[in-house]
Amino acid sequence: MRGHHSAQGPGSQTRRASARWACDLYKDATQTVFGDGPGTARVMMIGEQPGDREDVAGEPFVGPAGRLLDRALAEVGIDRAEVYLTNAVKHFKFTLPERGKRRIHKKPSQGEITACKPWLLAELDRVKPKLVVFLGVTAASALLGKDFRLTEQRGRIVELAQGIPAVATVHPSAVLRAPDREAAYQGLVADLTVVARHQE
Ligand code: URA
Repeated sequence: MRGHHSAQGPGSQTRRASARWACDLYKDATQTVFGDGPGTARVMMIGEQPGDREDVAGEPFVGPAGRLLDRALAEVGIDRAEVYLTNAVKHFKFTLPERGKRRIHKKPSQGEITACKPWLLAELDRVKPKLVVFLGVTAASALLGKDFRLTEQRGRIVELAQGIPAVATVHPSAVLRAPDREAAYQGLVADLTVVARHQE
């Protein structure tokens, strides 16, 4: 934990959750990675799923994508310590390559996203943010539906069924993979500027 009042999953006192999960991803993951941040945060940011580092640490966005996000947040004047960070899916999904030990991230299926949705809704209900930020299309489609188009709708405020304003941007991992990383990073910063202005 980063010294926050982390909101754990509904009814959960432990990270060793098992039978309550509605899909099988918990079986291979090291642990459940719930959200982290103040329970009173005004901004909730939602990623896809924990990565390799997050799976080991038990905290969201502590690996390379998290470091890039930290840099972008600092650039637009948002204090990460005041943000509630979570993921659409609470377990790391990966494949093991035939050779080597590095676990390779796999995209969660629609069924896995749907299975985890009650946990995300419970976090929303508990934290009651004033603004939700989707980091990538997986997170956005979890709450806005699979027809959501990131390229067309990123950086624009929309309203969730819960009546909460929301804005989507690219996933920090997509920035790390982009052929023109600097342009992708500037796009992320531009979208996060919309978030920073919303706070004023
Ligand atoms: N990518 C995500 O979507 N979430 C994390 O917590 C880390 C990487």
